Amino acid sequence: MPPNAIDSSFDMDTENNSKTNNQGLQEIVSGSYLIAIFQSALNLLAHILIGVIVGITLHVGFQSGLPLEPIQQHIVLCVLGYQLLMAEAILSLCPHNGWSNRLQLEDKRKAHWILQILGSILAIAGSIIKALDNDVNWNTYHGQFALVALVFTTISLVNGLASLYAYEFRKVLPGNWSKITHICFGIVAFGASCITLCYGFDKLIFRNWASESADTLIAFTVIFTFIILINPAITFFNKSKRVIKMYS
Ligand code: HEM
Repeated sequence: MPPNAIDSSFDMDTENNSKTNNQGLQEIVSGSYLIAIFQSALNLLAHILIGVIVGITLHVGFQSGLPLEPIQQHIVLCVLGYQLLMAEAILSLCPHNGWSNRLQLEDKRKAHWILQILGSILAIAGSIIKALDNDVNWNTYHGQFALVALVFTTISLVNGLASLYAYEFRKVLPGNWSKITHICFGIVAFGASCITLCYGFDKLIFRNWASESADTLIAFTVIFTFIILINPAITFFNKSKRVIKMYS
């Protein structure tokens, strides 16, 4: 390669680098760099809290060894389904999410629906196991919020397919509507599962084991649920605003 070719690419690189530096500088000045760092830090915090909650719950579930009693199967399956897999399914689409932000949109979507289907199966199985084990159903706040989570998870699963095939279903259901309703049902399902878990941590069988730490676990659950739901809530409002503008 002639020396001038090297020189010109070197010049281009230098030019690109200085452009990137200028862009970075502009971002810092405009504050968007700081916001991006803050959002990445929140994402990291959410992952740490998910790890703590899922880890502690699995420890409680498996502490008396195998085979697991129905209550233990219930705790393990519900927390793995909702607080691990479904949480990661929602986070996979977040632009600041550590493990998925390098994935192409198509692969992010694949990761989302695979995690969502697996999480829903585990969560639904864990809920049904305990409901069948109970003599009376849906008479506690824990059970009632779990029922809301169960119903919205099931609707969101079916509705998610409509979102995935939005183009094919466009004559029956306009693409925007299937996406907006999917986000809304998903937020309700995940939010209700968080409230259910908090009531679960408040149960005597859990408090006997965790004593005052149960309150810390409740606080951790509320914090990571809030962080996880910020991004879908923003997407929901932006998409709704666009649809309302289209019809007005
Ligand atoms: C996201 C997590 C959880 C979900 C979705 C969930 C869901 C459910 C469901 C569907 C039932 C049956 C309700 C009924 O038949 O009325 C139930 C019952 C029960 N769960 Fe959970 N659960 C979760 C976490 C926990 C945790 C962490 C504990 C900890 C001890 C727990 C303890 C119980 C107990 C003792 C019952 C029987 C009493 C009752 O129905 O309130 N659950 N749960």
